[in-house]
Amino acid sequence: MNPVENNTSVVPPPHIRALGDWTLHEYAVCTSTNLVAAQLPAWTAVRSDTQTKGRGRFDRSWVSDEGGLWLSAVLPIRPKSAAWAFLPVAIGYAVCQTLESLGAQDLRLRWPNDVLVGRRKLAGLLLDQFSPDLVVAGIGINVFNNPENRDDSLAGQTTRLTELIAPAPGLTELAAHILRAVRTVSGQLESHGPEFLVNSVNALWHAPRRVRLDLDGTVVEGEFVGVDARGRLELRQPGEPPRYFEPHQVRCLRETP
Ligand code: BTN
Repeated sequence: MNPVENNTSVVPPPHIRALGDWTLHEYAVCTSTNLVAAQLPAWTAVRSDTQTKGRGRFDRSWVSDEGGLWLSAVLPIRPKSAAWAFLPVAIGYAVCQTLESLGAQDLRLRWPNDVLVGRRKLAGLLLDQFSPDLVVAGIGINVFNNPENRDDSLAGQTTRLTELIAPAPGLTELAAHILRAVRTVSGQLESHGPEFLVNSVNALWHAPRRVRLDLDGTVVEGEFVGVDARGRLELRQPGEPPRYFEPHQVRCLRETP
């Protein structure tokens, strides 16, 4: 087979397998699974053993060493619909549900969709929209890898699945579990709307929690209590009516003691 152009680097073609409703493309290496998935139709997913340009939120780089699950799923979406607004937190919910069903305990979400155990990050999600009716949900889970070996600034801040469940599943098997849950949650959102999921999602924040929001320069503090069915973050401040923020308004949420 010919090598394929895979976002700036020429790499061997993927191994392609059918997984239920999904078609999974598996690479040994690529730039970013989100960028590769940007070229693919709905219900296709991309997994790579490593990424040379793994992307995090706010243009940060994402350590994508061997042994982690680096996965992107292409989902159809009606632009600006209720499901569209709720999708980012719903994908976080699908990831938590999957990991819990495999035996992981004490998982929680940190807004908008980091998966943590205590204060340590297990998984991060990056949703990209490269075309109006498709969303690429990028899911990074530390499984057997240890990103702290690659980036000193992460010291003490991460955990990995193999510390939570033994034995942790292989990466293709884990991808299959995650994709099944993403498919289910996406169907629930489409058929029943965010109201169907909002209580289950809100149970995962372990809220209320004191937070500091960076609204692109302006800082607001208060108690994070969860999200509403429109996917907006709800913040409480003493003596004030609740305030709601759209995800794009919040550059960064920090949990404060
Ligand atoms: C974050 O917490 O900042 C989000 C991290 C998202 C990482 C995943 S790994 C698979 C997909 N491909 C990428 O380049 N990023 C996401």
